[in-house]
Amino acid sequence: MAPLPYYPVNTFGPLMKGMVIGGVGILHVFLAQFAIGGGMLLCYFERLAQRGREADARKLVDGYFQILVLVSFVIGALTGVAMWFTTIQVGARTIGLMVDQFHWLWATEWVCFSVEVVAGYAFVRAGKRLSDRARLSLLGLYAVASWLSLFFINGILAWQLTPGRYLDGGGMWAGFFNPSFWPSLFYRTAVAMVLAALAACIVINSLDLPREPPAGGSEAARRAALIRRASRFAIPMIAMPLLGVWYFLVLPADSRAWLLGGSTPMTMFVGIAIGSSLLIGAYVLFGLVVKRLYVNAASAALLVALAFGATAAGEFVREGARKPYTVRGVLYSNSITPAEVAELRRTGVTANDPYPLRDDARYPTEQLRRGAKVERALCDACHTINGANSLVELTRTWTDDQLGQNIAKLQRTKGFMPPFAGNAEDVEAIGQLLRWEAAGTPAAWPDTTDPKTLQQIAKWLEEAGTK
Ligand code: HEC
Repeated sequence: MAPLPYYPVNTFGPLMKGMVIGGVGILHVFLAQFAIGGGMLLCYFERLAQRGREADARKLVDGYFQILVLVSFVIGALTGVAMWFTTIQVGARTIGLMVDQFHWLWATEWVCFSVEVVAGYAFVRAGKRLSDRARLSLLGLYAVASWLSLFFINGILAWQLTPGRYLDGGGMWAGFFNPSFWPSLFYRTAVAMVLAALAACIVINSLDLPREPPAGGSEAARRAALIRRASRFAIPMIAMPLLGVWYFLVLPADSRAWLLGGSTPMTMFVGIAIGSSLLIGAYVLFGLVVKRLYVNAASAALLVALAFGATAAGEFVREGARKPYTVRGVLYSNSITPAEVAELRRTGVTANDPYPLRDDARYPTEQLRRGAKVERALCDACHTINGANSLVELTRTWTDDQLGQNIAKLQRTKGFMPPFAGNAEDVEAIGQLLRWEAAGTPAAWPDTTDPKTLQQIAKWLEEAGTK
């Protein structure tokens, strides 16, 4: 029997599903990486303070922690919940598969997160009253727990892109320690440290540093000393180019080809991610570390914004490089498995679709309604009708033959699309839907049931194959 489409079936208007999850995901990843780097940075400054190496280090630790907790516990937790909320609407089957394969590891990640929350909360409430040892232990616990949560979630996300030996029956651990596990873990750790250091530069500018004899120098000099320490903490970023190359080399060859010009948007985003990272790197290493420049709060905020841009572009590329899969080799982006395509070719993709269409009354004919269901089942993950990556615009200038052939041979039209998982009537129905939408949704639209056309489409489907 043909598989049912997964519930909930939802659309987000002109916003592409992939963009909705991508948008929430980028924000969440950015905040989470900041929180992880923050824990490490605070350990570093607390040690400086306890060894008497940096007079104002403790002020930074206490000031920074307030912000860290606010950002990571409030906004980080909210966007984390938003991730679950959107992901079950956008890719219920993908997230279901991920939970199914990795539930124990995921549960471990949650334990780490809970430890992080408890340690963080305890530090905020009691940190100022604790002994040096207890302070450092609590900060250490916070830092280790948050880095471990990265360790676990990183394996699960990397598995989606490069499942490696998991595909040959290697099981959970082979999936977890997959080819991009280590480059991605180290790269993200370096990013986390840079983000934390940049955020520290903002906090340092907002610290209240009254002159405290006998140690107190001028206020500007004391801030500059803290900035120098923070910028040194960002030095691991010199490993990022190498880690980036390593990451790139473990990608499958087709994904690599898209990044290198095969897909212009992807190549541009790679360029933006590399360009902004190099700018930040040059500023921090040459400006702050070598030349010992001072950075004020506004400029530091601008650097953080640039880092956000680099993160967004990088995450976009990582998500995009996975197409046409959400789990490479296992599940296509439209929640259909490679093995199900052949069956859906026979039954048609709408045969078992029990869900009503949104705005059902909009469509004047059954064929157009079918087209809308086909679009929802097979294309909606990466396209919309009239909004982002609009199907109407992509096909507006095509002849009927081009339309039929390119949809029937979808995986040959562009390598980042899955094979068409429906029958000839489905191809014709979505083709008519696109024509009707392009014509401005007129009230009457003729059915096209010419057997010759359907035969031709069936032949194209046959030629394209199901892989
Ligand atoms: C895995 C994501 C994904 C899925 C699923 C998907 N597409 Fe695409 N499609 C893309 C991307 C990405 C492009 C490239 C857009 C561009 O070049 O601007 C594209 C391009 C196209 C184009 C233009 C091709 C060209 O050569 O100009 C058409 C037509 C198209 N898709 C139709 C469809 C239809 C119809 C479906 C559903 C049956 C579908 N796509 C499913 C990702 C997808």
